[in-house]
Amino acid sequence: MKKRIERMLAEVAETELNSPEEVEIFRVAYLGRKGKVKDLMMAFKEIPGDQKREIGPMLNTLKQAIEHRVSEAKTTAVVRPKASGVDATRPSGGVPLGTHHPIQVVRREIVDIFQNMGFAAVEGPEIEDDWHVFSGLNFPPEHPARDMQDTFFVERDPDILLRTHTSSVQVREMERREPPMRLIMPGRVFRNEAISARAHCMFHQVEGLYIDKEVSFADLKQTLLHFARCFFGPDTDIRLRPSYFPFTEPSAEVDVYWGLKTEVDKRITKGTGWLEILGCGMVDPNVLKASGIDPEVYSGFAFGMGIERIAMLRYQIGDLRHFFENDRRFLDQFVGER
Ligand code: DAH
Repeated sequence: MKKRIERMLAEVAETELNSPEEVEIFRVAYLGRKGKVKDLMMAFKEIPGDQKREIGPMLNTLKQAIEHRVSEAKTTAVVRPKASGVDATRPSGGVPLGTHHPIQVVRREIVDIFQNMGFAAVEGPEIEDDWHVFSGLNFPPEHPARDMQDTFFVERDPDILLRTHTSSVQVREMERREPPMRLIMPGRVFRNEAISARAHCMFHQVEGLYIDKEVSFADLKQTLLHFARCFFGPDTDIRLRPSYFPFTEPSAEVDVYWGLKTEVDKRITKGTGWLEILGCGMVDPNVLKASGIDPEVYSGFAFGMGIERIAMLRYQIGDLRHFFENDRRFLDQFVGER
């Protein structure tokens, strides 16, 4: 009897249990109603009383060892689906669809409106040299934007930097094209700013440029009015305020009339009802000359706007950081926007 128990203990330890089926067969063979342990129990009844005291605990140990083996193997045995058990014709559970990012939605809409007016969409590099970002755009040498505090430099002397505005693409295109040209230039820009609800070190702009014979300020104003009415609605009004940019003369900032109907309107427009959306102007003759275009023959206008700013107005978003955090609770609100 002792020998039988010892042999069985060894057997239990050696048996390989690799699948749930094998575990079940093993369990029935040992612990089942007609299993090996039951046989031992029957035999145990027949042995003399003085041996029972020794054999009893051994039997208990054996039973516990088998139970332990079974529960352990149940957690480690891998379920391997049989190839024949897979129904390849069943419909899948479906793939959860993403949404268009609000920046992408607004960017596409702005570009579409200008493409409908005959502007061609082009892009330029994000890593630039000093010429395309500053010098070619008539920035004076001491301009603060050329400072480390405002611009991310990749290399100094000669300066390689992350473009601080998409106006750099204007210079590239003026250098490689002959007028007339009508271009809309979306892209990412970088500034050395602390991140807050209103500022970020990376954001998006759309730049516009139109160069031809006899382009006037009236053309600029009418183009931007048409844009504002397409984007914000047919009753939208705009106003132009005199401003300054090194690369345009004269320069202006454009506001849209936002209204004063609610407390929120009063707060975001500071009680005036007007909200700034972009900067613009007539391309400075120095800028045309620097890119090889004769300012005696050609004139042009340019404008630049921030996509985040316009998206914040359109969707009433109070914090710029939402755009870059990729929180599904934010992004899921744009389901269906194209
Ligand atoms: N580059 C300017 C900025 O980043 C925006 C701008 C203003 C672009 C006037 C222009 C322009 O083309 O004419 O703030």
